[in-house]
Amino acid sequence: MQRLDRYLSEAGVESRRKLKEIIRSGRVTVNGEICAVPEQKIDEQTAVVALDGQVIGRGDERIVLMMHKPAGCVTAATDDRYPTVMKYLPPEYKRLMPIGRLDLETEGLLLFTNDGDLAHRLLSPKRGVEKCYYAEHAGTADEEDVAAFAQGCVLKDGTKCLPAVLEPMGEGKSLVRVREGKYHQVRRMLASRNKPVSYLRRIAEGCLELGDLPVTMTRKLTDEEIEQLESVNFDEKFFKEN
Ligand code: URA
Repeated sequence: MQRLDRYLSEAGVESRRKLKEIIRSGRVTVNGEICAVPEQKIDEQTAVVALDGQVIGRGDERIVLMMHKPAGCVTAATDDRYPTVMKYLPPEYKRLMPIGRLDLETEGLLLFTNDGDLAHRLLSPKRGVEKCYYAEHAGTADEEDVAAFAQGCVLKDGTKCLPAVLEPMGEGKSLVRVREGKYHQVRRMLASRNKPVSYLRRIAEGCLELGDLPVTMTRKLTDEEIEQLESVNFDEKFFKEN
């Protein structure tokens, strides 16, 4: 048996102190009944605990969330100048960590997890997980730009990028597929072709697509999606050929 406030704090919902207030305000149910007593003992093996109607998993449950990150927030736990992505995480997920990052002004697919190993594996440059971005930029991308991306762009500071795919989509719009994550990479790649970016959104990562998830919203990945994510393998062919 375990105290309700301890159960929720171990699930990463909030600090014990804040949880006491949350529980007392009647936002928590145990097996469908409101329980406003933080010290209430519950059977942590069988109890169904929910906050604002959302069931809270025990600490050992692996969670992966997808967020549609808005522009104007940084991918960090705290920041002195800007709001952070944590602002958009539902309260029960405040302790999750982002997998990788998107710039302040970039929107789109951002994953969070409580599984440090999974985060590490997905971020490993050796895996080369493909990320797809929709970009709006100055000018119109042409065959020369496509070839430069395929060869590996040389950024304005001389940095050489791995080969990437540029798909022009008409005037001032392109899709960009990259397998690495240098600082401001897509913006700098397009800038190296004199096509500064005015809008950038990540629309896919590995097998996952942002789809129609509304901006600022999050959703939990299904077990099947997590399995697919885990099975993304180091693409040897890609790295050998290039
Ligand atoms: N490339 C960028 O320029 N910004 C991002 O946030 C991600 C990729």
